[in-house]
Amino acid sequence: MRKFESLALRFDGEKIWVLDQMLLPQKKIWLDATSPEKMIEYIRALKVRGAPLIGIAAAFCLARLAESGETEAEYRKAAESLRASRPTAVNLMNAVDKLTAFRPGQMNVRDIVELAERFFREDQKLCENIAKYGAELVLDGDGIITHCNTGGLATAGVGTAMGIIRRAHEEKKKIHVYIDETRPLLQGGRLTAWEMAELAIPHTLICDSAAAILMREKRITKVIVGCDRIALNGDFANKVGTYGLAVLARHHGIAFYVAGPYTTIDLHCESGADIPIEERAADEVRGVCGAFGEVVWAPRATPVFNPAFDVTPAALVSAWILDKGVYTTEDIKRGGLIECTQS
Ligand code: MRU
Repeated sequence: MRKFESLALRFDGEKIWVLDQMLLPQKKIWLDATSPEKMIEYIRALKVRGAPLIGIAAAFCLARLAESGETEAEYRKAAESLRASRPTAVNLMNAVDKLTAFRPGQMNVRDIVELAERFFREDQKLCENIAKYGAELVLDGDGIITHCNTGGLATAGVGTAMGIIRRAHEEKKKIHVYIDETRPLLQGGRLTAWEMAELAIPHTLICDSAAAILMREKRITKVIVGCDRIALNGDFANKVGTYGLAVLARHHGIAFYVAGPYTTIDLHCESGADIPIEERAADEVRGVCGAFGEVVWAPRATPVFNPAFDVTPAALVSAWILDKGVYTTEDIKRGGLIECTQS
């Protein structure tokens, strides 16, 4: 496999490295994720995260395994475990399924490597397209709220929702970004705040619960978020809290956009009801842990509900910003998402 490098994923010709996103931005530590066991551990722990990036990272891992001369049986076993490492982001399943689509006994290392390499390069192009189409919707003076992290840390390229914001900023539009801190794992407060600062995009970090005030005061004029899985009817899963933002946006008459590549569309999901939602450990909500140590504020035995994602119904979405263009509700109703997955 050729060498590759993005903000949080690197292949140096021998090993696959992931930037530990649970330690960012306080510490920048690269972890060797070459073995499937390590890659699975890091995906589960969100050390490598973001729907497009986990698909590509898993693909790199399988390509490397194939190159190492592993048997087809072992390769398929590793693929199955990688595929199951997180349940909601469909990019992971879509990537692994393509890398295991060959007939039994027909494993071809060159084909596998070429496919993994293509996923990386393609994601960069998909991000560029999303950024281009989405930036056209951003106006001078917009106050944009975003949730979680959808930038270079979550993709191989400029990101999805974040790529749009970045492109609008590069086009010299005067925008201000409100970043939801994104409880419980703080992808907004730690990762998006860091990326925004690196890119010198004007921004303000808020508690998730402060969005309503800013909408009422008209300081937020648009919501742009990413996604982990889009069902065929346009319902989509994204980081928990996204649904609440969509409800708030509707109440305040504010446009709500979701951005994602075709690799996030699930042709097997008719609606959001079919999307499996990951539930995570109770301790993530009872306190925090990371580069800043462990702080627990809730009683140790407090019962917790900790879904990592929620589903936003299509009825609350103003438009879907995809790599092939901006899709309206009418486009989605006439089967636009199926068309988007076809090249
Ligand atoms: O649990 P995470 O941090 O992997 O969740 C990520 C998100 O919800 C992102 O918004 C989504 O993957 C889109 S990234 C381009």
